[in-house]
Amino acid sequence: MKYLSALFLLACMPLFAAPDGKALYEENCSVCHHSRGQGGIGLPLTNEILSQVSDDYIAKTIHHGRPGRIMPSFEALSPAQVQAIVGYVRSWSGKPGPVFQTSRIAGDAKQGGALYKKHCVRCHGKDGSGEGPGTGVTMSRERSFMVMPAALNNSGFQKSASDAMIHDIIRRGRKDGGMPSFKNKLSDQEIAHVVAYVRTLEPPVIKKGMEEWVGKPAYIMESPYDFKTTVENVRQALTGANFRIFPPRYLEQDLTDEFSVNTRQISIRFCNFKELYHLLNIEPRLGLALPCRINVMEQDGKVLVISANVAQLATLFNNQELSEVGVLMEEIILTVMEEATL
Ligand code: HEC
Ligand code: HEC
Repeated sequence: MKYLSALFLLACMPLFAAPDGKALYEENCSVCHHSRGQGGIGLPLTNEILSQVSDDYIAKTIHHGRPGRIMPSFEALSPAQVQAIVGYVRSWSGKPGPVFQTSRIAGDAKQGGALYKKHCVRCHGKDGSGEGPGTGVTMSRERSFMVMPAALNNSGFQKSASDAMIHDIIRRGRKDGGMPSFKNKLSDQEIAHVVAYVRTLEPPVIKKGMEEWVGKPAYIMESPYDFKTTVENVRQALTGANFRIFPPRYLEQDLTDEFSVNTRQISIRFCNFKELYHLLNIEPRLGLALPCRINVMEQDGKVLVISANVAQLATLFNNQELSEVGVLMEEIILTVMEEATL
């Protein structure tokens, strides 16, 4: 009998075993935050940060991610898996995280706004996105900051951080990250005003008519015309929009020999050199990512016109000027695609 129940226990163990936080972290987080939170594309998760943020904040951050920024949401992870990751991250410093009250702190957003303008805008930006000339993700920012600030106007941050936690961060600053302490500059009440103001920050407004493309890696439109006509339409629409078109190129050209090339997939590459010059001045590394191509392909009897989501690509560089150009490019490319498929 004893033997049987021991066997039973053994057989059940994998089911009841706690999720492995280290393995889950390595699978889901380390590509951006590095193996022990040293940071990379993702912010470093330093001991200083860990000493300022609650377990609840980390768990909610994992769950919600940062919509519209680089960090994805991990809604598919179970609460137990999320807790295991939090536990693993905590194990780096070996200290438990602080616990904050979750209730709202009373403050006057109007007074807070004035204080924010005076003390915070230069690093966190007018809208709290943390974007500004030269700041940004590792790819583009000037190295005057150790790290870029996370976006405060992001719904993922707003849902994860409590008022008391934000208050505490402002009071203490982030030495490692380059944020000064405001303990001697602002009173507790003034900081509460700033917190109230931070709560009013909202993500950039999405242009009317563009909502459907948010979060999608590509724009895809179906053409009512046949393949050849669609290609011709795209070329005409591009020329009409003052783009120069490069010689056409089959998508698979480099991959296959010339006889088996799929001629039903074409990549139309285009450029407006003046615009390109301007863009490369803002972000030299953009050359690597610049799409400047619209693909036309025939698939299952449908003719599709496809372009990378330029507005989204542009925001990855965390450079406000570039994000604005991205939105302009989006408008031009979508107009071209619509014209070609109308
Ligand atoms: C694709 C890259 C990427 C992945 C994967 C990713 N993150 Fe992030 N993470 C980021 C970026 C970028 C930020 C900064 C948010 C911003 O830009 O506003 C961030 C922010 C955070 C923050 C907030 C830090 C702070 O100072 O407030 C935490 C905590 C965090 N990530 C934990 C995780 C954990 C845990 C995982 C795995 C479950 C994970 N991240 C997966 C890129 C990533
Ligand atoms: C000199 C630049 C600088 C100034 C000024 C500054 N910050 Fe920061 N702030 C940062 C940086 C950089 C980080 C990220 C640091 C890190 O994660 O180690 C940060 C982090 C934060 C965070 C935590 C966000 C997160 O997800 O990690 C909050 C909240 C914040 N700042 C609010 C403010 C407010 C409000 C003010 C004005 C009272 C302010 N900061 C002034 C640079 C600055």
